[in-house]
Amino acid sequence: MYKIVKKAQLTETIFQMEVEAPRIAKACKPGQFIIVKIDEKGERIPLTICDFDAEKGTITIVFMAIGASTYKMTSLKEGDYFRDFTGPLGMPSEFCDEPLEEVKKRKYLFVAGGVGTAPVLPQIKWLHNHGIDADVIIGAKTKDLVILEDEFKKYSGNLYITTDDGSYGRSGMVTDTIKYLIEEEGKNYDVCVAIGPMIMMKFVCLMTKNYDLHTIVSLNPIMVDGTGMCGACRVTVGDEVKFACVDGPEFDGHLVDFDQAMKRQTLYKTEEGRAYLAAKEGDTHHGGCGQCN
Ligand code: NAD
Ligand code: FES
Repeated sequence: MYKIVKKAQLTETIFQMEVEAPRIAKACKPGQFIIVKIDEKGERIPLTICDFDAEKGTITIVFMAIGASTYKMTSLKEGDYFRDFTGPLGMPSEFCDEPLEEVKKRKYLFVAGGVGTAPVLPQIKWLHNHGIDADVIIGAKTKDLVILEDEFKKYSGNLYITTDDGSYGRSGMVTDTIKYLIEEEGKNYDVCVAIGPMIMMKFVCLMTKNYDLHTIVSLNPIMVDGTGMCGACRVTVGDEVKFACVDGPEFDGHLVDFDQAMKRQTLYKTEEGRAYLAAKEGDTHHGGCGQCN
């Protein structure tokens, strides 16, 4: 059982919870995710990690109430418990395992969209703690939906906030600010990390391809069970079939087939769609668990 030690509501539908999970907090690295289960019969919900504190033994998650299970999660209070809290899962961000001297030579641009802003925080915090200050763009539909601004101010070199309706910060989508920084401010970046809705990551990648700017994306949004068993997060990356929950969640965004991944996401919502995908994809439908059949 995993105790919720702190709960906050960040927007009408976005919630933050700090959960006691010492073993995960000790092992966790930026880029990884966890799976929660509210109770015995609950659905497994893969969620990105917003922060971790090895000393306190806690993991902070941020989630949006978009389905029955995440909606049920919103009713949990401080002092309540999750039945399961599993992790850390997935591969850490690539810079964690690269020689620090190499990472320090690079100029990073992070592009965080909506609730996808949360998993960017541990990445820029890690870089900041290792002496690297990255530029960050946070995009949200409106002022009310901008999250974690104060936390980002602590760890980012330059923070640019943009809202689709211009109600706060710059006006427009994150791609407008990328264009502005590169073309008008004359900024040079070596790596862009884009995390947010699939459509945002697709358009960021289309843009950064034009600048020949290496771009990493995080494919958490296409996960369903997070275990490699359901086949939901199957994605074509270059010439290869990958599973976001086992091989990712982070991939070279210029190699990801976003249109196919988004089409699968839609098909996966219905039983008929899932049956169609299983039949069409045959043995490659599932991930790497090896126990599916
Ligand atoms: P949103 O729809 O408010 O979009 C956030 C920002 O993305 C916008 O403000 C805009 O700047 C940018 N954007 C959106 N469409 C764009 C386009 N066509 N071109 C360029 N930029 C565009 O975001 P939301 O409602 O908070 O998003 C929720 C989604 O985020 C869910 O689908 C969830 O699965 C996903 N998510 C992703 C991750 C991840 O790891 N990638 C983590 C958590 C949540
Ligand atoms: Fe089910 Fe990856 S989320 S296989």
